[in-house]
Amino acid sequence: MSKKTTFVTQPFLPPLEEFLPYLEQIWQNKILTNGGPFHQQLEQELCKYLGVEHIALFTNGTIALVTALQSLRVTGEVITTPYSFVATSHSLLWNGIKPVFVDVDPDTLNIDPQKIEAAITPHTTAILAVHCYGHPCDVDAIEKIADTYNLKVIYDAAHAFGVQCHCGSVLNHGDLSVLSLHATKVFNTFEGGAIVCPDLKTKLRIDQLKNFGHAGETNVVAPGINGKMSEFNAALGLLQLKHIDGAILKRKEIDIAYRQGLAGIKGIKCLTDSGEKVANYAYFPILINEEYPITRDELYEQMKANGVHPRRYFYPLISEFPMYRGLPSSNRDNLPVATRAAEQVLCLPIYPDLPMEIVYEICQFIRAQ
Ligand SMILES: Cc1ncc(COP(=O)(O)O)c(C=O)c1O
Repeated sequence: MSKKTTFVTQPFLPPLEEFLPYLEQIWQNKILTNGGPFHQQLEQELCKYLGVEHIALFTNGTIALVTALQSLRVTGEVITTPYSFVATSHSLLWNGIKPVFVDVDPDTLNIDPQKIEAAITPHTTAILAVHCYGHPCDVDAIEKIADTYNLKVIYDAAHAFGVQCHCGSVLNHGDLSVLSLHATKVFNTFEGGAIVCPDLKTKLRIDQLKNFGHAGETNVVAPGINGKMSEFNAALGLLQLKHIDGAILKRKEIDIAYRQGLAGIKGIKCLTDSGEKVANYAYFPILINEEYPITRDELYEQMKANGVHPRRYFYPLISEFPMYRGLPSSNRDNLPVATRAAEQVLCLPIYPDLPMEIVYEICQFIRAQ
């Protein structure tokens, strides 16, 4: 394959000269953080772009998840997926909440709503689901269960920037949705995160919680944290927003090329969408089964030896890590679908500047094994 090393992703950056006027403005007005003008403007523009009512920007997605749980006063046990990045479950531990893992759907690799009810106990207060790879969860089924059992629903939408399901933005489902705006994400502010919420009252509570619990100059109403996004990151976000549609379009072209290039290879399955109306092409996961001549790990090593670094997202499962594996729900017998997916998955490189020749080479390489 090509001599240059190719990683699973490469952060999208706008032209540097376009960012300089924003920096000049920050230097001029000397407002660096604490809900400054760029912060306010980015919240408004993201609401418009995403089609949501309210957004609270954060320093990163993990602090946003921790704060989302606090803002809804979630306690006890929370039903969640083991097939995600570890920050999903860590946000529960940071709140003293017990995660209860439920298996995933074999097609979408999102939490399987049919298995949720059996995991509910008198201590269950919420469901923390993940739109894995940006593919929407079965939001209607989850809402029905939550309504029946009076549970809160929080979506870890770290991968789901800009995704629309059957009824508009997927971020409008659940009590809250949490975005990550990390460097590796479809839309990045270097580091960043956000909570999407439906009503102003919740947004104001979240704004207090991300600012030490301050409610005015001399009043502190909660043991809040410092989760504020800086003006630098917010300004960058405003500029990134101007380029986002083009960036997603390039991802789409790569997604199409992979699907064509990998079609018909025995033992390779490309994950399909989960019915979204607008996708963001955040990842390109394939599943490698026994019909393929070599194992997933052998393919992974061979690709790396040839300069391409795919990633095994999400292997190991969260439930395998030391702080989780003692939980009864972490037992592999409880999670057969997620366990198998974690052993089969490989996320191939996808990012706007990825040259098409490399996509073709990767497909040929996988076909030639
Ligand atoms: C599913 C998921 N949840 C949460 C996070 C945490 O976001 P951040 O890195 O912005 O803290 C990430 C990614 O980093 C993620 O992929």
